Amino acid sequence: MTADTTLKQRAIMKLVRQFGHPRGGAGRLVGRVMAHRRSNRQRSIWAVSVLEIRPTDRVLEIGFGPGVAIAELARRATQGQVHGIDHSEVMVRQAGRRNAAAIRAHRVRLAHASVDEPPSFDEPLDAILAVNSVGFWPDPVERLRRLRGLLRPGGRIALATQPRCPGATQSTTARAARELQDMLTQAGFTEIRVETLELDPPVACVVAATASAVPEQA
Ligand SMILES: C[S@@+](CC[C@H](N)C(=O)[O-])C[C@H]1O[C@@H](n2cnc3c(N)ncnc32)[C@H](O)[C@@H]1O
Repeated sequence: MTADTTLKQRAIMKLVRQFGHPRGGAGRLVGRVMAHRRSNRQRSIWAVSVLEIRPTDRVLEIGFGPGVAIAELARRATQGQVHGIDHSEVMVRQAGRRNAAAIRAHRVRLAHASVDEPPSFDEPLDAILAVNSVGFWPDPVERLRRLRGLLRPGGRIALATQPRCPGATQSTTARAARELQDMLTQAGFTEIRVETLELDPPVACVVAATASAVPEQA
């Protein structure tokens, strides 16, 4: 391995870390890239559409980055409530600016928090979304199990993934989707299905539900 290759690998690792936890000036730049890159915007807006948000839904997005999906969630959940958490202060500020009007109207609440310690809610949520974020979580099955507890019976979760590693292809996406399906199964979710958006590389959105409440016997 040449010194050049090592330097290049280090630079890539540094960049990946920024996407997992944007910090400082480089983090602000990474946030702007995520907010304006066409395929990023397309995948966020599409992932929200897959979740089939209803006007009264109470929704949580984890790892909202610059807040593109938050804006789309707020556009759909007009009488509901949109919550978001991200462990990057830089992203909380960028998403806050992008969604300032909805925050002022108390329709969107963004918090600087990690998925390790999600906030508690006074009522169960209808839906949870995470776009290109689960890959950065420690012990994701345990985190997903805990998130299942925040959802109402029959509540939905959507985990979207678009692998951004160099040379990623359709099969990279398919592998990532299978991993998410396994995690959701282990975390106790049901009705798991995968939808795909044909970008380059494709985006997979793995959707699942919590078990519905058992209807009472007459
Ligand atoms: C690659 S970015 C994706 C951002 C946005 N969802 C999008 O698709 O444009 C990953 C985001 O997840 C957040 N994130 C990563 N690990 C997290 C954790 N443990 N808790 C909360 N947020 C996390 C990062 O700060 C970052 O904003």
